[in-house]
Amino acid sequence: MNAQTLQSIAKALVAKDKGILAADESFPTIAKRFKSIAVESSETMRRDYRSMLFTTPNMSDYISGVILFDETLRQSTAGGKAFTQVMHENGVIPGIKVDGGAKPMAGCKAETVTEGLDGLRERLAEYHSLGARFAKWRAVISIGDGIPSDACIDANAHALARYAALCQEANIVPIVEPEVLMDGDHTLARCDEVTTRTLDCVFATLKRHHVLLEGMLLKPNMVISGKSCPNRADIQAVAEATVNCLKRTVPAAVPGIVFLSGGQSAEEATAHLSAMNEMGPLPWEVSFSYGRALQDPALRAWSGQGANVEHAQKIFYHRARCNGAARSGTHTAAMEQVIS
Ligand code: 13P
Repeated sequence: MNAQTLQSIAKALVAKDKGILAADESFPTIAKRFKSIAVESSETMRRDYRSMLFTTPNMSDYISGVILFDETLRQSTAGGKAFTQVMHENGVIPGIKVDGGAKPMAGCKAETVTEGLDGLRERLAEYHSLGARFAKWRAVISIGDGIPSDACIDANAHALARYAALCQEANIVPIVEPEVLMDGDHTLARCDEVTTRTLDCVFATLKRHHVLLEGMLLKPNMVISGKSCPNRADIQAVAEATVNCLKRTVPAAVPGIVFLSGGQSAEEATAHLSAMNEMGPLPWEVSFSYGRALQDPALRAWSGQGANVEHAQKIFYHRARCNGAARSGTHTAAMEQVIS
């Protein structure tokens, strides 16, 4: 493990004005996204869609790195240039999703544990040779009647810590992603309680497994009301609860926090991020690693048509720019209107 290399990659991923594009949808997830625009999920369409995103002019103004799925890391543009090469030339760092997905956890009703540790050391060595310099592993925690259980939080924290240690051994920066889901009618306070419990356990476990905090990034959910909560908290309340929760639980040695969007609308995710950065200075860089909140408007603009590529890239660039402004707390509603 080269601590210096890890720290410099982690810092580059949360450089000023920049954040991460999560484009690591697995086969079932990308099929679901394509279904929403009535496009069949074939290898060619997946390539064309991701090609549209990754060849967006000047994307690196606001995007530091992209998380890829295994297939995409090995894919090339229609013109035959490897996506990793496209990124390298544009100053964007390639990353890779390495988890095997959340699977039902035996003995725990409606809870999951993320699998994929077997053979991970060998897969990481191959991913590094293919150009990946950071990785992602997502654990899923659900809020419900009597859940999450300690068993579920412990098992997921253990897997995250073993994954993170293996990544660092391979000189790959681990993004540690414990996602407390927004599904349900729970309140902001309940999300706060579960997120605090989860992050306390995750950091205790990371330390026990000798993970270098300076050489990782945390990808958490925001502290937010459940999707079907009757009294959803507003932007300021979400920003304050999230920052306070993270200050209690995330050591200042961690260089950056890169949020997932988790089903928030694109504009909502940007507004929350901007409100948090307005509360600064904060102990860590506070940035984004959005999937849907960066892609959804561009996905709809593209709709599987080659003729729409340029327009879709403008829409994508616009979202990246808005989130880039949110990095310094300077995003405004007026900015949303101007698509250059
Ligand atoms: P969303 O921003 O769509 O939640 O996706 C981020 C991600 O990578 C989830 O693992």
